Amino acid sequence: MQKPLRHILVCGSFRMNGSPQGVCAKGGSGQLLQYLQEELSDRGMVDVVISSTSCLKVCDRGPAVVVYPDNWWFGHIDSEEAIDAIVESIETGEPATKYLIA
Ligand code: FES
Repeated sequence: MQKPLRHILVCGSFRMNGSPQGVCAKGGSGQLLQYLQEELSDRGMVDVVISSTSCLKVCDRGPAVVVYPDNWWFGHIDSEEAIDAIVESIETGEPATKYLIA
């Protein structure tokens, strides 16, 4: 297996104790994971992997998604349109400023 070129971290609001309760989980980040996976697959982006994470500490901007190694932090990712913007950011190499956390 080749190492991925990019890693997408999707905040799943996981806590050390108890079930996810944070802004991102409540905002639907878990439901958008499948859509994100399907978009990457449909576009043949096999060198990108996805992980669901604990709180990324930007709850006031949640749901939050981070793309490495670009270090792009995106906020308010609560729709398929927002996911499309992230995938297109990776394709073009230019981050979607509409969702970018400065
Ligand atoms: S719960 Fe997602 S950033 Fe805190």
